[in-house]
This record gives sequence, structure tokens and C-alpha cells, in this order.
Amino acid sequence: MELNGSPPFSVREHTAGAGYEDLAASGSAIVQGDAHRILAALPDGIAQTVVTSPPYWSLRDYGIEGQLGLEASVHEFVEALAGLFDEVRRVLVPDGTLWLNIGDSYTSGNRGWRAPDRKNVARAMGTRPPTPEGLKPKDLIGVPWRLAFALQERGWYLRSDLVWNKPNAQPESVGDRPTRSHEYLFLLSRGERYRYDVDAVRGPNGRRLRSVWDLNTQAVRESAGHFATFPESLAERCILLGSREGDLVLDPFLGSGTTAVAAARRGRRFLGLELNPDYVRMAASRIRAS
Ligand SMILES: C[S@@+](CC[C@H](N)C(=O)[O-])C[C@H]1O[C@@H](n2cnc3c(N)ncnc32)[C@H](O)[C@@H]1O
Repeated sequence: MELNGSPPFSVREHTAGAGYEDLAASGSAIVQGDAHRILAALPDGIAQTVVTSPPYWSLRDYGIEGQLGLEASVHEFVEALAGLFDEVRRVLVPDGTLWLNIGDSYTSGNRGWRAPDRKNVARAMGTRPPTPEGLKPKDLIGVPWRLAFALQERGWYLRSDLVWNKPNAQPESVGDRPTRSHEYLFLLSRGERYRYDVDAVRGPNGRRLRSVWDLNTQAVRESAGHFATFPESLAERCILLGSREGDLVLDPFLGSGTTAVAAARRGRRFLGLELNPDYVRMAASRIRAS
């Protein structure tokens, strides 16, 4: 389906045997289906940069079969994601980069379920996995670093950890630790040399960008709290640093479409993969509206 507006993009459903050669040179698309399967069908070396936020482990049930994030153990979760990111590395150009945002979580303290949260409906979980081996109830799991080390072992260059500081973070009711107001973002590259436009984004007084980014969270009206979205400002920075106009920007976990919106605004092409058809529709209408 071709949609009106600039730039044009197609919305497709993944089918076995589908080829995506057309995306190597031109066009943008959203593909509905399982990210790992779609990635495996993509040609080598088509994306300049990847900006993405995978489902967080054990935090949200998006209510759809095949979703990542509900694995019984954190080890299985990290393995599943690391395997998927092997394919991501293959579809990157040799000087391509991956900007990976991933949230952390705490062990459940042996609670087997999480009650619905009115502000954030997707946080209600029917089941929660047991405390991972080697950890205690209430431990911070350290998911981002576990994943970062797994990717490093599989060949990625881990170039930077970035702290996304959220000045407008939601208060927490917990009284025995500081309120969590940051998330990690990792810059990983496929090779030792990679595209990083140091002048594309500057900090205050024109100085070079530092590794703590203060960016307010941004509610996506259409998502009604279903998403752990990152703000467009975050996606935009990564896109400007890691690509040129006309390059293809990939997000294998498109969600509400933030990466695609930011890419289109900045004259890049985008390829967004998303399992949930409702979110595909939401992303398509957000891109059109922007
Ligand atoms: C953290 S959200 C991404 C949010 C996105 N960055 C945004 O700004 O809206 C993760 C997304 O991954 C999707 N997802 C989960 N498992 C998937 C799979 N196997 N293949 C493709 N998408 C999947 C979920 O439906 C969800 O939309």
C-alpha cells in the first residue's frame, strides 16, 4: 500500500519467502511480523544505522503471540535478543551503527504477578518469572549491561554507554532507594571504523556531545500508555550522528513509530518492523500526521 505524503512509504505484512531487495536502494516501509524472521529475509548491508528499544524483560505484556520479553529467565531473554542482533549486524553497512535503548528491572521479590497500573495499562502482567538464579528478591537485574556484554562477545564493538537522564521522570512510591530517572543507551558498531558525525549534534556552547543526555520523556497520545516509547528528540540525535540524508534507518521494534517519524523528518528513509498490527497502524498514522 502506498500512502500519500512525503516521503512515501509502504506498509506490508511479512510472508514466508518475501524479499526486500527494493529497500536496498530506495523507499521506506513498515513491515508487520516477527522481527527476527523479517531480519533473516533482509539483504545484507542495507541499513546505515539502527535505532531501537526492544521490549524490556518481564516488564510489559503487549498481549500478542511471539512477543519478546516474556522469556522464563533473563538469560533466555538476553540470548534471544543477542541472536536477533546477529541479523541486525548483517543488515548493517560495514560502517553502520546500532543505538540500543534498553530498560532495567528488579526481581519481583517473589510476587508472582503485578497488579494493573491505571496510568500504564501494559504494565499489568499475568505472570512474572521467578527471581533469576544468582540474584535475590529486590535485586536490580542489570539487563542493559548483560545484553551489552553478550553483544560484545558476539562481535559488536561496544563504543559508548549513554545515560538518558529524564528530568521529568515519574515519581516512584518506593522508599528504600533513589527514584530511578535514567535509562541506558548503547552505541555499538559493526566494525572498528564507523560513521559518527561528531558535528551533527552539539552540546551547550557548541561543545562536543557528552555521554549524559537530558531529554524529557514524551507521551505518545495514540498509545494510551501502552508503550515504553523513547522521545523523538532521542531518536533524532542518533539518526543525525549515525546517518546521512537518504540513508536507511532501521528499527526492528518500531512500536508507535518514533524512529520512523524522526527519520522522515530528517530526510532519511526508514524500515520499521513490528509484530502487533494495531501498533503498525498507529505508527503509520503518526508518520503520516508528522
Ligand atoms: C519498547 S517497545 C518500542 C517502542 C518504540 N521505541 C516507540 O518509541 O514507540 C517494543 C515493541 O516491540 C514489539 N515487539 C515485541 N516482540 C516483537 C517481535 N518478536 N517482533 C517485532 N516486534 C516485537 C512490541 O509490540 C513493542 O511495540
